[in-house]
Amino acid sequence: MHARRTVRTARQMVANHGWATAVRTARDHLKKKLRRTSQLTDDTIAWLPTAEHEFDRQYGVDTSGLVWSVDLKTGSRSDAWNTAYYGIGPSVFRHVMAQVPGSLLRSATFIDLGCGKGRAVLLASEYPFVQAIGVEIAPQLHRIAVENVGRYTAARSMEGRSDLAPMSVLLQDAAEYRFPAGPLVVYLYHPFCRPVLDQVVRNLGRSLAETPRNAAVVYINHELRDVLDRAPYLQQAWSATVQMDVSDRLADRVGSSAEDCAIYLTHS
Ligand SMILES: C[S@@+](CC[C@H](N)C(=O)[O-])C[C@H]1O[C@@H](n2cnc3c(N)ncnc32)[C@H](O)[C@@H]1O
Repeated sequence: MHARRTVRTARQMVANHGWATAVRTARDHLKKKLRRTSQLTDDTIAWLPTAEHEFDRQYGVDTSGLVWSVDLKTGSRSDAWNTAYYGIGPSVFRHVMAQVPGSLLRSATFIDLGCGKGRAVLLASEYPFVQAIGVEIAPQLHRIAVENVGRYTAARSMEGRSDLAPMSVLLQDAAEYRFPAGPLVVYLYHPFCRPVLDQVVRNLGRSLAETPRNAAVVYINHELRDVLDRAPYLQQAWSATVQMDVSDRLADRVGSSAEDCAIYLTHS
């Protein structure tokens, strides 16, 4: 399993960044790993805090955990370019959404391409969006996302929040997704590698050219931001490294404490 994952990661790295960068990154990764293995034992890992996020306990949903892409096979050509499932830290999501123009928050459809278990869709429903849509390629994650929408809606209505934006989750390859009419907030949490991202950016450009309208692309963990930088119809409006709050860090076993984020807007 470990060898398959390594081969997959190497293929993705070459597709995304080219051979020279892939070799340099592999060398640096190996060096870091060698340094770390002397300190990180099974005992240490057993004492790491639980990976279940407080968000899940609070609302009775299941959005936590890390699922490697080798465990998300669907038979689609896009499988090779799947990064992994990992839910966005709610504190990071809210920080980034605070940078999206208010006019879009009040008028747009929110679309999470690669929604996984649906954490970002649930979080987006708290904003005055027209609707919040998730698109997920892996059936096992899509099933969980559908259940989460039901549970979250029930939990929030018990708190008196019956004003959530309508949510839906589609089982579909993001590369084949057709964007709906009206203003858009397209959200990406580094879900796929370059070949799929290229296709998504082309599809969005075509849709906006056919029916000009306001749109934002929110890109978190923006490893392939050059794809968006080059899109002639987009302009970067904001970018920052956003620190996670304590509850996000406690649930994080990936070892990150911050996310690189950017927002792109269509030219007005
Ligand atoms: C890093 S997770 C992001 C989860 C979610 N967007 C969030 O913010 O909590 C990436 C997700 O994208 C999905 N994915 C990858 N390639 C996809 C594709 N071509 N079409 C749809 N979903 C895809 C993966 O299965 C995974 O669930």
